[in-house]
Amino acid sequence: MPKTIIAGNWKMNKNLAESVQLASEVVKVSGKASAGVELVVCPVFTHLEAVKEVIKGSAVKLGAQNCYPADSGAFTGEVSGSMLKAIGVEYVILGHSERRQYFHESNEFINKKVHHVLAHGMKPIYCVGELLEEREKGVTHQVVTEQINAGLANVTADQMKNVVIAYEPVWAIGTGKVASPEQANEVHILIRNLLVKLVGDAGKEVTIQYGGSMKPDNAKELLAQSEINGGLIGGAALKADDFLAIGSAK
Ligand code: 13P
Repeated sequence: MPKTIIAGNWKMNKNLAESVQLASEVVKVSGKASAGVELVVCPVFTHLEAVKEVIKGSAVKLGAQNCYPADSGAFTGEVSGSMLKAIGVEYVILGHSERRQYFHESNEFINKKVHHVLAHGMKPIYCVGELLEEREKGVTHQVVTEQINAGLANVTADQMKNVVIAYEPVWAIGTGKVASPEQANEVHILIRNLLVKLVGDAGKEVTIQYGGSMKPDNAKELLAQSEINGGLIGGAALKADDFLAIGSAK
């Protein structure tokens, strides 16, 4: 059975003091999450170290929101996997639709990041998902298939054990519009089959999160679906109680 992972993508929100505060609230409530559920918090780069200190000794894990696929060098403004690893980062969100949209990241470039993060002993949370116009055109499966096959190219079965997928239909992110549980699960089943095609049985163990307006009031129904193994939470992760409500919905 894939592990249930509920990760909070804080995006570009919260200043340092607020991040420390939120992390300590998450730690405080984390004991009430359902058994076997892993909670992850992903603040901005500049707050990773402070948040790491706050969650030390708790079961809450640390994630980053991006990284650059080179160890060091002339890449102004970027942060490498080795730098994240040194802080104690365990997960790295990669290929988020906001990065695809605003920073023009391609599947091929994200694939380099996936390999970089794995090479540094961290776990990529690889995001995929279709735009509204793609869903309306009926090409959701083609888009997600291409994202999975190209973004995870040359990932071995052994490495796949450390990969998490987040299916985030772009039209459901931050819009309050949530995919119906059946709509979401249909794509999760597609992803599961693609993973098994890529790496065999190891693909059955990969956690596939849903993301896109997941909230306390819809989490239970979404997490009850056969192939929804967790959530990547934006807005609702900015309040510890809401985040916990999702973490205890399964
Ligand atoms: P919301 O939960 O705010 O829709 O954001 C989802 C998301 O993009 C998580 O990465």
